[in-house]
Amino acid sequence: MRGLHTSLAAEEAAATWRAITERTGSCKHACRRCHSSHRQRSRQAVQAVNVAELQAATPSTSERSWDSVRADFSILDQSVNGKPLIYLDSGATSQKPRAVTDALDHYYARYNSNVHRGVHHLSSQATAAFEAARQKVSSFVNARSSSEIVFTKNATEGINLVAHSWANQNLKPGDEILVSVAEHHANMVPWQMAAKRTGAVLKHVPLTPDTQEIDMQAFKEMISPRTKLVALVYVSNMLGAVTRVHDVVAEARKVGAKVLLDACQAVPNMPVDVQSLGADFIVASAHKMCGPTGIGFLWGRSEVLEGMPPFQGGGEMIDHVGLQESTYAPPPGRFEAGTPAIAEAIGFGAAVDYLSELGMARVQQREAELGGYLYQQLRGVNGVTIYGPPPENGRAALCSFNVEGLHASDVSTLLDHEGVAVRAGHHCTQPLHEYLGMNATARASLYIYNTHSEIDAFIQALKSTIKFFNG
Ligand SMILES: Cc1ncc(COP(=O)(O)O)c(C=O)c1O
Repeated sequence: MRGLHTSLAAEEAAATWRAITERTGSCKHACRRCHSSHRQRSRQAVQAVNVAELQAATPSTSERSWDSVRADFSILDQSVNGKPLIYLDSGATSQKPRAVTDALDHYYARYNSNVHRGVHHLSSQATAAFEAARQKVSSFVNARSSSEIVFTKNATEGINLVAHSWANQNLKPGDEILVSVAEHHANMVPWQMAAKRTGAVLKHVPLTPDTQEIDMQAFKEMISPRTKLVALVYVSNMLGAVTRVHDVVAEARKVGAKVLLDACQAVPNMPVDVQSLGADFIVASAHKMCGPTGIGFLWGRSEVLEGMPPFQGGGEMIDHVGLQESTYAPPPGRFEAGTPAIAEAIGFGAAVDYLSELGMARVQQREAELGGYLYQQLRGVNGVTIYGPPPENGRAALCSFNVEGLHASDVSTLLDHEGVAVRAGHHCTQPLHEYLGMNATARASLYIYNTHSEIDAFIQALKSTIKFFNG
């Protein structure tokens, strides 16, 4: 098995190196920026192989039990307030498996160096690992090329990038941006700001009153040739509802509008294929999918990215800099000014390896099972209201809920006393909470390491909480 991984690693490293040389443009960076030679480039290729070999040492996990997967997350093995920790806040951020923390450690312990800037050994290793991570993310979402993957600080930055670079160039007074009332603030505030800057009008698609899903009938009535951008959440972090992306894209194409998907709660939990979805932009954050904080990505259709001006200026994003004027690198470098989050990108690559080895179809199936169980159990608790569609409509493995007569913060505080971590508040969806006529909910969100017995313990703790308040 090790041998197979090693030769795959060598192939991957060679492909990565081809991608790096393609990206830097036949000798441009290697010779002009790095004062390198063809010989030095081949030395870098050898070093790339070594890095990829190191990274490919993780055994295949495809046949592993979920118990053994859980054992990779050592943070879960602890007590909180004298009770076993039950972490039900993965919608906010997931825990990290050892493979990811090891990749971070290994980078800092063995090859910490800046990327794209040096020909020395460590810099070459860091560059190869950084670009290998881009390639991994690209394959994970089935992008046509790794140059369609722009590393960003998080999903929020990805949306802000589009809201500046694309929107400033393409929106004018009277144009319309369509979002839904269910958007995370990350996909709401940047469009409010873009609308103010450009004179475009921001419109909000309502939800179906019964199932609280994006109302596709209303969407079809609202979209028009004035619509230049549709920016929608793929999977709602509050309602768990899954947007009918293919229908959205089909309608947008009829009027020539671009489509951005906030896929923060989709990419970690289900197979996402950007080519089959047909949108123009997709964003997600690594920290919700076993990866580190501080890194996310924007996928952009290459022909759209190529037409966009830079978001920020500085090192790395340039082709040539003069005293008055500069020219810019092609995507994705054009959108990655300054030293990137190197360790985080490498950790993200390890997270993608980890999830890929589990298999995203299997992850999705496991979450459907756990999520369905959570919904059924929670629905059986007296006084509980769960928001969002029923499981038969398809929903994510999370439940936002309220208990009659209790504030979500009180519920969450009491659950914490029982070792149960749930989130309370508006979950960065304040307009949605106002739309639904409330100011807060509690939210239990699951991931691959949760178990049925944890859900049972959560339900028991919730019942005790309700009893404590209601006597
Ligand atoms: C649906 C959705 N969109 C956007 C975000 C923002 O993610 P980040 O803060 O990592 O940029 C989140 C995070 O909770 C989310 O759940």
